[in-house]
Amino acid sequence: MNKFLCCTLVFLDISVKWTTQETAPPKYLHYDPVTSRQLLCDLCPPGTYVKQHCTATKKTECAPCPDQYYAEDWNSNDECQYCNTVCKELQYVKQECNNTQNRICECTEGRYLELEFCLRHTECPPGFGVVQPGTPESDTICQRCPEGFFSNETSFKAACQKHTNCSALGHKIALKGNAVHDNVCHENKDASAQKCGIDVTLCEEALFRFAVPEKLTTNWLNELTDGLPGTKINAENIERIKQKHSSQEQMFQLLKLWKQQNKEQDMVKKIIQDIDLCENSILKHIGQANLTFEHLNILMASLPGKKVRKEDIQRTMKLCKPTEQILKLLNLWRIKNADQDTIKALTHGLKHLKAYHFPKKPIQSLKKVVKLLHSFKMYQLYQKLFFEMIGNQVQSVKKRCV
Ligand SMILES: *[C@@H]1O[C@H](CO)[C@@H](O)[C@H](O)[C@H]1NC(C)=O
Ligand SMILES: *[C@@H]1O[C@H](CO)[C@@H](O)[C@H](O)[C@H]1NC(C)=O
Ligand SMILES: *[C@@H]1O[C@H](CO)[C@@H](O)[C@H](O)[C@H]1NC(C)=O
Ligand SMILES: *[C@@H]1O[C@H](CO)[C@@H](O)[C@H](O)[C@H]1NC(C)=O
Repeated sequence: MNKFLCCTLVFLDISVKWTTQETAPPKYLHYDPVTSRQLLCDLCPPGTYVKQHCTATKKTECAPCPDQYYAEDWNSNDECQYCNTVCKELQYVKQECNNTQNRICECTEGRYLELEFCLRHTECPPGFGVVQPGTPESDTICQRCPEGFFSNETSFKAACQKHTNCSALGHKIALKGNAVHDNVCHENKDASAQKCGIDVTLCEEALFRFAVPEKLTTNWLNELTDGLPGTKINAENIERIKQKHSSQEQMFQLLKLWKQQNKEQDMVKKIIQDIDLCENSILKHIGQANLTFEHLNILMASLPGKKVRKEDIQRTMKLCKPTEQILKLLNLWRIKNADQDTIKALTHGLKHLKAYHFPKKPIQSLKKVVKLLHSFKMYQLYQKLFFEMIGNQVQSVKKRCV
């Protein structure tokens, strides 16, 4: 009676376990020496071993693995396996042994297992980026940086980086990047002017204006374009300039573009240097004039022709540095009054400013600027540009037109 109860209890216990696991336990064949028959016994679950094989009347009896022993799978073993993994040098115990699992060792940080040894992860050298960082089981995977990417460091982690997009920053490429270094950008010399938006400076105007004939012929632009040395301005740009600008303005834009396109050429470099010198001395004069909105307003009102609007003066004050404000406003005036000479207009305006109690110092500075722009130096510069470089062609055109 006692025995029977005990058996049912074991049976109940096991059956509850099976039903919660929902699948019937897998079986194994066992030769029962008592009945001399092959029996189909239940396997023991992971973490246990077979303590007693099943008989015709009794199910398999399983027992948990003792300490430091494990059984990974369903099994019919009569003992568990010993936790035999020993962590070596440069390894740590990732998972201690329990009754379903042997001890798991792993290489320490920064190393991976190659055969028996924990080797250091490879660092990707400059010019190579990490495609896949190393793991405890695998080494770093490096790849040569493709076109447009770079890596300038030796690293376990750093992927190749995209070259900095200089133009997106409004800069120019000073040094083109390669696999080991980034693009080096340098501030576009015109960048501040572009922000403030001075498209043709007073010095350029003074210089370019010499080249403009009194009467514009329809063919003038094409003749000039053909005559200019260096990289030719392409037809598409000429067309764009023709569409966007009045006839006189076209001339300035064309020369400006030509100057930009050819700035690496030695002869143009010299001209640009001279223009820069001119611009620096203008800035030196005008930079002193610290004018308020009222003053700028009076100054612009004194110029003949179409007036620059007050909103434009305000915007200019916001966008441009104090030293650039007058120049920008004169630039705006020129754009509004496309066939007139800014320098002449300024000369005209300066005569009338005194009547408005305009501060004396800025008037003097502006007078100096006008003088500079009318100076013999500018004419020499013009000669260099148009007579020496372009030669007789423009000269003859000019003569014909005068
Ligand atoms: C043994 O360790 C493994 C890994 O953490 C775990 O999944 C498993 O449940 C453990 N076994 C026991 C019986 O605690
Ligand atoms: C790598 O390039 C970056 C971005 O250009 C730069 O900031 C860094 O200083 C460079 N590092 C070395 C070691 O040259
Ligand atoms: C750089 O940026 C400009 C403007 O955002 C974009 O048009 C150009 O495709 C970019 N160049 C590269 C190489 O990504
Ligand atoms: C220009 O004027 C402003 C406002 O009147 C003043 O804050 C600034 O210091 C002046 N700058 C110079 C260089 O005089």
